[in-house]
Amino acid sequence: MRARLVAGNWKMHGSLAANQALLDAIAAGVDAVECAICMPFPYLAQGRERLRGTQIALAAQTLSEHASGAFTGEVSGAMLAEFGCRYVLVGHSERRQLYGESDQQVAAKFAAARAAGLSPILCVGETLAERDAGRTEAVVARQLEAVLDRSGFEDAVLAYEPVWAIGTGRNASPQQAQAVHAFLRARVGTEARILYGGSVKPANAPELFAQPDVDGGLIGGASRVAQDFIAICAAAKRKG
Ligand code: PGA
Repeated sequence: MRARLVAGNWKMHGSLAANQALLDAIAAGVDAVECAICMPFPYLAQGRERLRGTQIALAAQTLSEHASGAFTGEVSGAMLAEFGCRYVLVGHSERRQLYGESDQQVAAKFAAARAAGLSPILCVGETLAERDAGRTEAVVARQLEAVLDRSGFEDAVLAYEPVWAIGTGRNASPQQAQAVHAFLRARVGTEARILYGGSVKPANAPELFAQPDVDGGLIGGASRVAQDFIAICAAAKRKG
């Protein structure tokens, strides 16, 4: 039985004071489901301190594909591990679209995360134009194969995030999500966890998480609202 996982992606939001209040509320409210918070780099020390001894794992939002060297502004997997991160997002669509990360670069980052002992959460997903053109499976297969050509998947996590559903309030229907998850499942195997991401809210989480190949969620906007994130975690717990 795959353990459910709910990961909050804070993106570039937060402050020391706001983070502390949010972490306090989440730590008090999340019960018996595995969850992770992907914090901005400068706040990882704060997260490590506050989440120590809780069931909530610390995570980062990206990492360098390099182990060390003259790469100004970059952060290595070993640095994230030293600050207590267990997970790191790799290939989020905002990284791919806004920062030009290619499939090959994402694959290199995935390998770097593994080499540092982190569990990468690999994000894949199609744009609306790609879905409309009937290319959803081809796109997510290409994104995944670039990684699998280079690394084993093992304890990594996959996140299906249709680009058209991220931050739009328009989630994939449970049936749309399940269809892509089943397609991905055939490639990563029965042990791997596949999260759905894209406008997950307390109202739609139960139905999404009830799909057989949806093993939890990657939550953006709703992860910054303590009661919403707690409710989404509770929905993940109810499943199975
Ligand atoms: P959203 O973001 O929940 O705000 O749609 C999801 C994500 O970007 O991971």
